[in-house]
Amino acid sequence: MSILVTGGAGFIGSNFVLDWLGLSDEPVINLDALTYAGNLENLASLKGDPRHVFVQGDIVDFDRVLGLLEAHEVRAVLNFAAESHVDRSIHGPGEFIQTNVVGAFNLLEAVRAYWVKLGTTERQKFRFLHVSTDEVYGSLDPAAAPFNETSRYEPNSPYSASKAASDHLVRAYHQTYGIPVLTTNCSNNYGPYQFPEKLIPLVIHNALSGKPLPIYGDGRQIRDWLYVTDHCSAIRRVLDAGRLGETYNVGGWNEKPNLEVVHGVCAILDELRPRKDAKSYAEQISFVKDRPGHDRRYAIDAGKLERELGWKPQESFETGIHKTVRWYLDHQQWVKNVTSGAYRDWIARQYIA
Ligand code: NAD
Ligand code: TYD
Repeated sequence: MSILVTGGAGFIGSNFVLDWLGLSDEPVINLDALTYAGNLENLASLKGDPRHVFVQGDIVDFDRVLGLLEAHEVRAVLNFAAESHVDRSIHGPGEFIQTNVVGAFNLLEAVRAYWVKLGTTERQKFRFLHVSTDEVYGSLDPAAAPFNETSRYEPNSPYSASKAASDHLVRAYHQTYGIPVLTTNCSNNYGPYQFPEKLIPLVIHNALSGKPLPIYGDGRQIRDWLYVTDHCSAIRRVLDAGRLGETYNVGGWNEKPNLEVVHGVCAILDELRPRKDAKSYAEQISFVKDRPGHDRRYAIDAGKLERELGWKPQESFETGIHKTVRWYLDHQQWVKNVTSGAYRDWIARQYIA
């Protein structure tokens, strides 16, 4: 028996694979297309480990997925694979539809073809866990209660709309075909191995490179931050004990305006790696044009996950952000490797053009 993880060379997927194999000997089949966001260096510590089978391939490829399910007697599929960056979805939504919608559909179809042929016990034990986002719920007013599992879907970006579409497909495959599915909708993650196009690693990277720290609009947009290993533990908990067909919101009860997050990162850098001129990195903050359709506020009510499955995050924002800044300082070669080549084209397109 084994689990199939898709997108396991990306930020959250690679953290999940590393944590999983740190806690269990159950093999992981890791299917990842290795787009710009996928990086085998994240998994270097697993080199030669027979419990980790890496396969470069696309979730859109039905035959490939079905072949893997059959060959490795997979008992659970965890779908992390996605195009995940809102700004990229604004420049080029096509790939988001292809991977996040068509890819999810093909995965579900391959799972359906595999699952119907399983024996009764295996069929009952099988799980398809879909990793999704709080962004499907749209934007919250300042005084509104955090999103819960009954909040209306109101996606505002091509990214969130594509994730919303995949969530609906997952639900439909449970209602229509009886596939044993689970969906998690998580808030913003941060931590090791996050590609420096997302706010926190971008700010650390730019700060150390002496570049401006770009704040979209007024910087008062609110996100609810969760340290990535807490997301991974929530996914394991839902996989083990989640009720079939249910969705679980995952969050860290850490709502923060972007400006506060950026000032926090600067303060930690000031302490750990002071600028040569002894000024604060906060001097590099630069307000830039806002993102079109920018959601003002996300906040997650993770009460259902806590009540039903006893899950709670282990990290506060303060402990998690310290660990994160420290990790980036200690892994400058990783940053250098992922920011060479195509990364520069993205930065030029998004921030300079
Ligand atoms: P990421 O962009 O870092 O990684 C995505 C991975 O998927 C990459 O390794 C990429 O190579 C792979 N991939 C892309 N297209 C593929 C395809 N067609 N076939 C196979 N592999 C493909 O993303 P992430 O931040 O690790 O997010 C993982 C999942 O978690 C996504 O589904 C995302 O929507 C969800 N999520 C992310 C966050 C967050 O804050 N990052 C929060 C909530 C939910
Ligand atoms: P991001 O990390 O892209 O995550 P998401 O859009 O999925 O929430 O952005 C987090 C917040 O930071 C979001 O409100 C947009 C903002 N942001 C900036 O202000 N400047 C930046 O350069 C980036 C990448 C994001």
